[in-house]
Amino acid sequence: MKVTFRIWRQNDTKDKGRFQDYETDGLNEDMSFLEALDHLNEQLVLKGEDVIAFEYDCREGICGQCGVFIDGRAHGPHRNMTTCQLHMRSFNEGDIIAVEPWRATSFPVLKDLIVDRSAMDRIIEQGGYISAKTGTAPESNAILVGKEVADKAMDAAACIGCGACVATCKNASAALFTAAKINHLNVLPQGKPEAYRRVLGMSEQMVLEGFGNCSLTGACEVECPEAISISNIAEMNSWYLKAKLFG
Ligand code: FES
Repeated sequence: MKVTFRIWRQNDTKDKGRFQDYETDGLNEDMSFLEALDHLNEQLVLKGEDVIAFEYDCREGICGQCGVFIDGRAHGPHRNMTTCQLHMRSFNEGDIIAVEPWRATSFPVLKDLIVDRSAMDRIIEQGGYISAKTGTAPESNAILVGKEVADKAMDAAACIGCGACVATCKNASAALFTAAKINHLNVLPQGKPEAYRRVLGMSEQMVLEGFGNCSLTGACEVECPEAISISNIAEMNSWYLKAKLFG
């Protein structure tokens, strides 16, 4: 299989960057998209050229490291899928495949396809945790959590923090990420004592980091590989209002 990768090359945050085409042969449809980039990089090494910088860790859709724009869509052409879960069988012989980093002011490009997502870490630092002492494992029924609440928490906790929601939003809003990280703790009894502090701290950090307001288009929900519901944003706003009134 032969395709042309049209890849964004950028030396550092100050470089203007540009697309560069790489005709790549010797691929097969069972390769993952990242394996195809590995294959291209091996060819660049043999030619003594600078390899393409891209991020990954788990390569199985759970760490959130691998996000890139592929042909204008976050994580490529399919819904509910990360870049590392995408395979070359989704493309055709001879395709020109454009690959770009996330585009958002709060995600400066470090090199090629790698962006600095530490702004999301700083949002988490403002409340994406509970401060209960862990100790030894408690008796499992000591704190009863109903199935509906447990399911709701798990659905929000599925966010892998990849940043696709930010990159795909026309306002580069981190509202879906922040809401998921607030709600999965706020709905549980263990997260309740800090619920107001959490929503205020994390929402305000989101603004400080330069992320835009929710655009209300719902693009984030469509491109989220974990299908996190946009209803989380409404719930975060409701927590925010309660925190302002009663916190
Ligand atoms: S490399 Fe971990 S989600 Fe893709």
